[in-house]
Amino acid sequence: MDVVSLLFSPVTLTVTAISCLYFLYWYGTSTFSYFRDQGITGPKPVPYVGNIWGLWKENLPEYDKKMVKKYGKTFGTFDGTLPNLYTIDADLIKSIFVKDFDHFVNRRNFVIKRKIFRKMLSIIQNKEWKDVRSSVTPIFTTGKIKQMSVMITDCANQLVPKLRAIAEGEGKFDAKLHFSAFTVDVIARCAFGMTIDNLNGKDNEFMTKAKAVFSPPANKSPLIMIPFTFPNLMATFADRIFFPKEFEFFTNLLTDLIQQRSNSTEKYHDFVEVATNAIMEYTKTVNGKEMPMWDREEVDEIVISQSMLFLLAGFDTTATTLTNSAFLLARNPGVQDRLYKEIIEKHKHFGEVNHEMILDFPYVDHVIHEVLRMCPPVIRVERGCNKEVTYKGIHIKKGMVVTVPAFPLHYNEEYYPDPYRFNPDRWAPDSDIKPNPYAFMPFGMGPRNCVGMRFAMEEMKIALCTLVKNFRFFPVAETPETMQFEDGFLGVAQPIGATVGIESR
Ligand code: HEM
Repeated sequence: MDVVSLLFSPVTLTVTAISCLYFLYWYGTSTFSYFRDQGITGPKPVPYVGNIWGLWKENLPEYDKKMVKKYGKTFGTFDGTLPNLYTIDADLIKSIFVKDFDHFVNRRNFVIKRKIFRKMLSIIQNKEWKDVRSSVTPIFTTGKIKQMSVMITDCANQLVPKLRAIAEGEGKFDAKLHFSAFTVDVIARCAFGMTIDNLNGKDNEFMTKAKAVFSPPANKSPLIMIPFTFPNLMATFADRIFFPKEFEFFTNLLTDLIQQRSNSTEKYHDFVEVATNAIMEYTKTVNGKEMPMWDREEVDEIVISQSMLFLLAGFDTTATTLTNSAFLLARNPGVQDRLYKEIIEKHKHFGEVNHEMILDFPYVDHVIHEVLRMCPPVIRVERGCNKEVTYKGIHIKKGMVVTVPAFPLHYNEEYYPDPYRFNPDRWAPDSDIKPNPYAFMPFGMGPRNCVGMRFAMEEMKIALCTLVKNFRFFPVAETPETMQFEDGFLGVAQPIGATVGIESR
């Protein structure tokens, strides 16, 4: 038999086909013994896609609770072939997010090369993250937040006559729609110095585009597997699926804004101005000399990226929390009455809802904490491991991911007795059982937590005090018994059917 005949003989072809299939199978499952070898349980992974398979149809908050119930506080899963350790163990959370932060500086490594997105604080890594984070942190100092609170109060006051018309008309409202319009107004004003009157036009371009960038349909389809299964493809084409063309509206808007500002001497006190100044002032030492860290082009890209990110990270999370607050207050009239009475007492002293009034107002803090506990907007918080480490016999290798699912953490009876009860008093200093600080993660945890947390709290407190002072919320036929969230692989838990009754006080 000659060589060609041997190569193409049925036996050779069969052996080759079997070897190829075996190699493909091995390649798509080669990491799957990672947790098993350490005695860590978890759901069975599917070759190549791991445990991402089917998640686009799941209800993530309920799915995560189910997983913890089945596998315990800590278990192993696979995103594609990448090991991902899930945990709601407060000791482990403390070690990973706080104590050993230098092992877990970043989130997972999605390769994104597209301009603007590649410089977003949430995506950049290691030293670049540290530099940009230190330069944007001054945007959220007490003084700057106080300045921005004037704009927030203005937006909240504009919301009142619009809701008054509804209260005196239909008597019920789509909370998510109205609070989204409010938070877009706040971000547009505080981040970009733009005044947009969203609530007068449901089709306002800014609002429509903001919504489109927030819920790309890919998150509810099998396409969601691409970035997890083939992260490198993200850099080539998949980012187009997850960053729809509506993004261009905002990048163009910000590029124009920055161009106009460079020819103007006017003061705006918004994120763009504060961030540009802070980022330009940031220096590095070269040969013993202090030099600007970034050139002008880099400064502009970093500023546009962060402003864009603030819109993305700040608009929907805050609107969702206000929606959940209106729902929970409607379902818990005792809490709402007490909040109203305390607001009236404060109001007598301060004369209006403003920064000073909410500064030392524990009950409104406790109400918002309890809303964020029961309805954490960000469903999962994660870290990528950049230096291997072992805890309680669990080896976490470089490159893998650790995820904290917020819903099962916030509903764990050990941390929160009677977890399905809306009880703001559990946050009071004299409460019998003090919540474990490492078991509360609505804003993440540690040095890489939410940089906009203080701004978000200011905005939500001002909005809630303004609303409860003027209106009473109550359940109507459409109001669900308990808050339900949309299915799909979503970053932010989207409330369903958040229609709430409203009447003027
Ligand atoms: C209720 C409102 C909000 C919630 C619940 C929320 C929640 C979160 C969470 C869970 C993270 C991940 C933290 C971690 O990995 O430890 C995060 C990150 C972030 N948030 Fe927020 N957020 C809110 C509002 C805002 C606002 C208003 C802004 C900006 C104005 C903002 C900007 C950011 C940024 C830039 C990051 C990335 C931080 C980094 O990687 O260094 N967020 N947020």
